[in-house]
Amino acid sequence: MGEAGVLTTNSKPCRRPVLLAAVLAVVLVGSFFVAEAAADEMTTTTMSGGKGDRGGGRKRRRRSSRRRAEAAAAPLMVPITVLKSAADAGAVCMDGTSPAYHLDPGSGAGNNSWIVNLEGGGWCNNVRACQFRKTSRRGSSDLMEKEIPFGGIMSSSPADNPDFYNWNRVKIRYCDGASFAGEGFDKENGFYFRGQRIWDAVIRHLLSVGMASADQALLTGCSAGGLAVILHCDEFQDFFPRTTAGGGRATTVKCLADAGLFLDAVDVSGGRSLRSYYSDIVAMQGVAPNLPPACTARLDATSCFFPQNVIDGIKTPIFLLNAAYDVWQIQESLAPNGADPGGAWRACKSNRSACDASQMKFLQDFRDQMVASVRGFSGSGSNGLFINSCFAHCQSELPATWSNAAGGSPAIQNKGIARSVGDWYFGRAEVKAIDCPYPCDGTCRHII
Ligand SMILES: *[C@@H]1O[C@H](CO)[C@@H](O)[C@H](O)[C@H]1NC(C)=O
Ligand SMILES: *[C@@H]1O[C@H](CO)[C@@H](O)[C@H](O)[C@H]1NC(C)=O
Repeated sequence: MGEAGVLTTNSKPCRRPVLLAAVLAVVLVGSFFVAEAAADEMTTTTMSGGKGDRGGGRKRRRRSSRRRAEAAAAPLMVPITVLKSAADAGAVCMDGTSPAYHLDPGSGAGNNSWIVNLEGGGWCNNVRACQFRKTSRRGSSDLMEKEIPFGGIMSSSPADNPDFYNWNRVKIRYCDGASFAGEGFDKENGFYFRGQRIWDAVIRHLLSVGMASADQALLTGCSAGGLAVILHCDEFQDFFPRTTAGGGRATTVKCLADAGLFLDAVDVSGGRSLRSYYSDIVAMQGVAPNLPPACTARLDATSCFFPQNVIDGIKTPIFLLNAAYDVWQIQESLAPNGADPGGAWRACKSNRSACDASQMKFLQDFRDQMVASVRGFSGSGSNGLFINSCFAHCQSELPATWSNAAGGSPAIQNKGIARSVGDWYFGRAEVKAIDCPYPCDGTCRHII
């Protein structure tokens, strides 16, 4: 599938008309900015609590049913495991239910290698947003899908996922609301903020069922899950011994953060919408003590929830994959409704072709900020980087953006995403790819 208007993402050809109709319906309603959810993680990430917040619940539910329809046709469905024992350690979802994960066991040469994927899906920053979350699959394992599709880097297909298809692949469900980093309990509202405990309990459980003796491990995730990867990467490394008792080779541990590079950027009204949103999340959910100490030693907690202030201090090898025109950030950080009361950005933020010259200039400046934010990071030989000039959000878990087999993933200098990540992970090549500015790249799968 090549470029076809606004919709070039994960839709299968046979479902395209249905999806397109759904997309148009959403656009015509005029109140929503997401033309098509690139990934599951995009669907519940609406910022809530600002002036622009106006009850996305109904819209979210409508889009959930579309997502379920897509999931139903996906190739590999992996069943859920609810980790009841985690509740003993107080590791519970927002509503007090036990956390959960999905595991597809490895095989053959991959049977002692592990991918741990942290699910994404926004955050919650106030009582109303957390109440909504608590009564959804993002806050309760009672409401989670009993099985979910594994695609892209989680795929079991050697053609779609040549480097990782036979690894043990685990997706840890996201049900806390602060990128697996909160700690607290709101008695009045009955909100458990136990992200850090969930992280800890599920990783320890996975270690106990074989991961402790892994040859290779990769922590990954996109969107809020990508941010979680950035925050927890060194903690993940610390779960594995540096050297084995018998003097054997220790586990190779690396991290991949997809669409997790949320910038502390100035929005279209001159404010900092995302900063104030993050500040609320960090305060409400007790995130501060769980942020990387190297950052909190010199900056305030909210700043340390922003990857740009954390990535230079990560010691474990980590790869940042991000679209320079990150659609979630355009819609929720740069031009959220609260920062665009007159609606001047409404058309542009759901359709890149509708952006005028000054809006495009604003977006190019945002790209420049993103590129600048990784300057120090890219100086480290063990790190990897792929910043492509696409209007996208999450590119590692969809066949169309991950795999060359699916018709050509986005590429920089002819090297696609799966190969870039694999080359970096296995040390086949250094990967520090930064694309030329939009619209130079003809390989994108734009979602707006
Ligand atoms: C991995 O494969 C080896 C043989 O190749 C086998 O002995 C071992 O039990 C397997 N481990 C797992 C976790 O399946
Ligand atoms: C996107 O914007 C362009 C330019 O304004 C317009 O021609 C096109 O119809 C728009 N596409 C959609 C789906 O709204």
